[in-house]
Amino acid sequence: MEPPSAPAHRGHVPWHRLLLAVSLLSFWNLPATAQITIESVPFNVAEGSDVLLLAHNATEDTLGYSWYRGERVENNQLIVTYRIDTQAYTQGPTFSGRERIYPNGSLLFQNATQNDTGYYTLMVTKNDLQREIVTGLLRVYPVLPRPIITSNNPNPVEHEDTVVLTCEPETQHTTYRWWINNQSLSNSTRLQLSEDNRTLTLFNVTRNDTGPYECETQNPVSATRSDPFTLNVIHPVAKPIVEANSTTVTEHEDTVVLKCLTNDTGVSLRWLFNGQSLLLAERIKLSQDNGTLTIEPVRREDAGNYQCEASNLGNSNKSDPLRLDVKFDSAPGSSSGLSGGAIAGIVIGVLAGVALIAGLVYFLFIRKIGGASDQRQLTENKSSDFNHIQDHSDKLSKKIDEVTYSSLNFNAQESKKPTSALPSPSATETVYSEVKKK
Ligand SMILES: *[C@@H]1O[C@H](CO)[C@@H](O)[C@H](O)[C@H]1NC(C)=O
Ligand SMILES: *[C@@H]1O[C@H](CO)[C@@H](O)[C@H](O)[C@H]1NC(C)=O
Ligand SMILES: *[C@@H]1O[C@H](CO)[C@@H](O)[C@H](O)[C@H]1NC(C)=O
Ligand SMILES: *[C@@H]1O[C@H](CO)[C@@H](O)[C@H](O)[C@H]1NC(C)=O
Ligand SMILES: *[C@@H]1O[C@H](CO)[C@@H](O)[C@H](O)[C@H]1NC(C)=O
Ligand SMILES: *[C@@H]1O[C@H](CO)[C@@H](O)[C@H](O)[C@H]1NC(C)=O
Ligand SMILES: *[C@@H]1O[C@H](CO)[C@@H](O)[C@H](O)[C@H]1NC(C)=O
Ligand SMILES: *[C@@H]1O[C@H](CO)[C@@H](O)[C@H](O)[C@H]1NC(C)=O
Ligand SMILES: *[C@@H]1O[C@H](CO)[C@@H](O)[C@H](O)[C@H]1NC(C)=O
Ligand SMILES: *[C@@H]1O[C@H](CO)[C@@H](O)[C@H](O)[C@H]1NC(C)=O
Ligand SMILES: *[C@@H]1O[C@H](CO)[C@@H](O)[C@H](O)[C@H]1NC(C)=O
Ligand SMILES: *[C@@H]1O[C@H](CO)[C@@H](O)[C@H](O)[C@H]1NC(C)=O
Repeated sequence: MEPPSAPAHRGHVPWHRLLLAVSLLSFWNLPATAQITIESVPFNVAEGSDVLLLAHNATEDTLGYSWYRGERVENNQLIVTYRIDTQAYTQGPTFSGRERIYPNGSLLFQNATQNDTGYYTLMVTKNDLQREIVTGLLRVYPVLPRPIITSNNPNPVEHEDTVVLTCEPETQHTTYRWWINNQSLSNSTRLQLSEDNRTLTLFNVTRNDTGPYECETQNPVSATRSDPFTLNVIHPVAKPIVEANSTTVTEHEDTVVLKCLTNDTGVSLRWLFNGQSLLLAERIKLSQDNGTLTIEPVRREDAGNYQCEASNLGNSNKSDPLRLDVKFDSAPGSSSGLSGGAIAGIVIGVLAGVALIAGLVYFLFIRKIGGASDQRQLTENKSSDFNHIQDHSDKLSKKIDEVTYSSLNFNAQESKKPTSALPSPSATETVYSEVKKK
C-alpha cells in the first residue's frame, strides 16, 4: 500500500481549505455533462476483505477529490483529498490508514471492518471550481461463525414439557432457518418460530420430536449450519423383548444368539442372567449397542433365564425372562457320570478303607495289651523320623504275623477320564480290594 503523501504546501493556503471556502460560496451545481455515481465493489463486503468505492464519470475537467465519512461534506469527517495536477494527498481526521484514493477518484478500503459500514460522500471539484457531491453506501458484514443450538431443558419429559431451542449467537442482518431430520421447518400447531426465526418452541414434546435439529444462519456474505442437536425426550420405557435363535441348545456344539428388541430410541440396554447382571466372558459377547448377546459355544452353566433391561435417564423396563436349556450328554463312558463298575469299585474301596481302619484299631488295641515295650516305643516316637517309622513298621508287620488277624491287598486303578468335569480327581479312582482272612 502506498501511503498517501502530504500535500505540497509551498507557502500557499492548503487547497482543500480553499475548496471548502469555495463550497461555502457556490451553489449545488447540476451536472451539465456526465452523471457522477458511486458503486461499491463488491456490493456486500465480508469483514476483513477489501472494497472499492468506484467513482464513475468523475474524471472530466476535474481539479481534485475529497472523500468524507457520512452523508455530508463536513471538515471533521474528511478522510482524504487528492489534487490531480500536483498528485498531492492530504489526510483528514477520519483517515484510518486503510484507505487509498486513486487518481480517478475511487477509494479503496483495505481489511474492511464492520465499523466501515455506512455512507461515504465524494466531493468532486472541477477546474472551474464548481463542485459535485455524491454519496454512496458501504456495507460490511461479519463472516458468521458456526451457530450452536441451545435448549431451555436438556431432558424434557414427553407430553409434559415445552422446549425452546435457540440458535446462537444473535447477530444483525442475519436470517435464521431450522431443519429437523433434514427437513425445513415452519410454523405449525405443535411448534412455533419466533418472528426472527431464531427461537423454536416445541409444545408438549414427544419422542418423535427427538430430532436431530439444525439451525442455519445466513447473511449477505456467509451461510453456515450448526451441528445436529438431538433432544433427549424422556418417556416411559416400553418393555423390551428377548428373542433367541434357539432356546434348547447342545453343550459345546451350539452357538446361541439372543436379541433384545425394543422400539424405544435413545435407550441403553443391559442383560440379566438369573436376575443378576450378566457377566461377560470369552464365549459370551455383546454387540456394541448391547442389543445382541452371543454365546459361543454354549455350556451347561449358561442354562437359565435371560432378561434385558432398557433404560433412559428417567425410566427402565425389563423384558420377560427367556429360558435357555442346554442339553448335555450323560451317557456311560462319556465325560459325564460314572460307570456302574466305577461306582461298585468306589463302594468296595470305601468298605475296604473302613475294614482297614477297624483292623488298625484292633491291632493297636491288641498291641497295647501285648507288649509294654512296644507301647513305650509308640509314645516315645510321637515326633519320630523316617527310620523310626521303618523300624516301627517292621515291628508292626511282625505283630501282624503274630496276631495273624488279616491281610489286605489294595489295587488302585485310575479310570480314563477325558475331561475334568467331575468334582474331584479322587472320585475318579476305582479301588478294587480284596479282604483275605487267614
Ligand atoms: C456516466 O454518465 C452518463 C451520462 O450521464 C450516464 O449515462 C452513465 O450511466 C454514467 N455512468 C455510470 C457508470 O454511472
Ligand atoms: C479507478 O482506478 C482503480 C485503480 O486503478 C481501478 O481499479 C478502478 O476500476 C478505476 N475506476 C474506474 C471507474 O475506472
Ligand atoms: C485486519 O484488521 C484486523 C482488526 O480490525 C486485524 O486484526 C488484522 O490483522 C487485519 N488484517 C490485515 C491483513 O491487515
Ligand atoms: C468504530 O468506530 C467508532 C467511532 O467511529 C470507534 O469509537 C470504535 O472504537 C470503532 N470500533 C472498532 C471496533 O473499530
Ligand atoms: C440432508 O440434505 C442435504 C442436502 O439437502 C444432503 O446433502 C445430506 O446428505 C442430507 N443428510 C441426511 C442425513 O439426509
Ligand atoms: C409463527 O407463529 C407465531 C404465532 O402465530 C408468530 O408470532 C410468528 O411470527 C410466526 N413465525 C413465523 C416465522 O412465521
Ligand atoms: C422465517 O422462516 C420462514 C420459513 O420457515 C420464512 O418464510 C420467513 O421469511 C422467515 N422469517 C424471517 C424473519 O426470516
Ligand atoms: C399440552 O398439554 C397440555 C396438557 O396435557 C394441554 O392442555 C395443552 O393443550 C397441550 N398443548 C398443545 C399445544 O398441544
Ligand atoms: C410418533 O410418530 C409415529 C409415526 O409417525 C406415530 O405412530 C406415533 O404415534 C408418534 N408418537 C407420538 C408419541 O406422537
Ligand atoms: C444362531 O445364530 C448363529 C449366528 O447366526 C449361528 O451361528 C448359530 O448356529 C445359531 N444357533 C442355532 C442353535 O441355530
Ligand atoms: C414395536 O412396534 C411394533 C409395531 O407397533 C410391534 O409389533 C412390536 O411388537 C414392537 N416391538 C417391541 C419390542 O415392543
Ligand atoms: C452395555 O452394557 C454395559 C453394562 O453391561 C454398560 O456399561 C454399557 O453402557 C452398555 N452400553 C450401551 C450402549 O448401552
